[in-house]
Amino acid sequence: MSGYRVLESSELSKLRDPMRDFGLDVLVGLSEKPKKLDSRYFYDEEGSRLFQSIMNCEDYYPTDSEREILENHGRSILANCASGPLNVIDLGAGDGAKTKILLSAAVQMGIDCRYVPIDISEAAVAGVTANIGAEFPGIEVDGLVCEYTDGLNWLSYQDDDRRNLLLFLGSNIGNFDKARARAFLRRQWTSLRDGDYTLIGFDLKKDIEVLLRAYNDRDRLTERFNLNLLTRINRELGGNFRTDAFRHYGTYDVFSGAMVSYLVSLEEQTVEIKSLGRSFHFEEWEPVHTEYSYKYLESDIVDLAGDTGYSIEGTYRDSARGFVDSLWRVDK
Ligand SMILES: C[S@@+](CC[C@H](N)C(=O)[O-])C[C@H]1O[C@@H](n2cnc3c(N)ncnc32)[C@H](O)[C@@H]1O
Repeated sequence: MSGYRVLESSELSKLRDPMRDFGLDVLVGLSEKPKKLDSRYFYDEEGSRLFQSIMNCEDYYPTDSEREILENHGRSILANCASGPLNVIDLGAGDGAKTKILLSAAVQMGIDCRYVPIDISEAAVAGVTANIGAEFPGIEVDGLVCEYTDGLNWLSYQDDDRRNLLLFLGSNIGNFDKARARAFLRRQWTSLRDGDYTLIGFDLKKDIEVLLRAYNDRDRLTERFNLNLLTRINRELGGNFRTDAFRHYGTYDVFSGAMVSYLVSLEEQTVEIKSLGRSFHFEEWEPVHTEYSYKYLESDIVDLAGDTGYSIEGTYRDSARGFVDSLWRVDK
């Protein structure tokens, strides 16, 4: 007898194995030429901790810029989008430190909020859930540990009456190239309902020296953050990378507007990754691409909103005019 059936989504989730996904992505990335590693894997426990230190370091301006925007404009952002109870969904929430500014304004304004931090890093979700739960006892917190797109799938199936405000802060959108950013924002649009809102943090094109300093900070935190990915491969996949045989290099491509990060092999070497049953050869000075961080013109933001089905309800800038939090309304 023969036949077929479509796997239910509940069955699919049981078949998912994050460790296997990590291993497969490393296998594919290191088999390509030029080699690459996906930036989503930066954030193990140590990576999340190092990123918090980066956010607090002087050279990395985006955190202070966005904090200033939320402190100065948090109330008007909320006034623009909250006429009733609100689901605040925080994609790639990290430590949620800036989101707290918005939640605190919401509490002062008497807005009934439910907070949903979504992050691929369990350490980040555990931390932010405990932290916000303790600081704002009136706010219900439901954290989700998953990939962005799984979070958006989850959102599609929510059917309460609250309006959604989807946060995508910290210029997380910059990790996508321009075509993927467009596709992602349209994907986000399909998960939201007519009249929902999204607040997106865009880092703007600016003095190149400022950009280079931010991604090659004097405390070498960004270097440690990048090298930690190799340590993670060693620990979780049985690799034997020597972190002192690689250096971090961050550069700016003026034309595409991307800050691009690499790990560069300082010598000819072969690295074995046991769980993949594979060795990878690196030539001296061979680069491994690790991250993009695309910068925007304000006109790019206007085009992107229009092309993906949103209307812009507010443009909030820091005083140096280097960063924008853009509030978009979903039009269906
Ligand atoms: C640059 S941090 C920004 C954190 C926070 N939004 C802020 O503005 O401070 C990026 C966060 O997104 C998470 N992240 C990165 N890629 C992800 C993905 N593909 N799916 C879910 N979370 C992801 C990381 O774990 C990290 O906590």
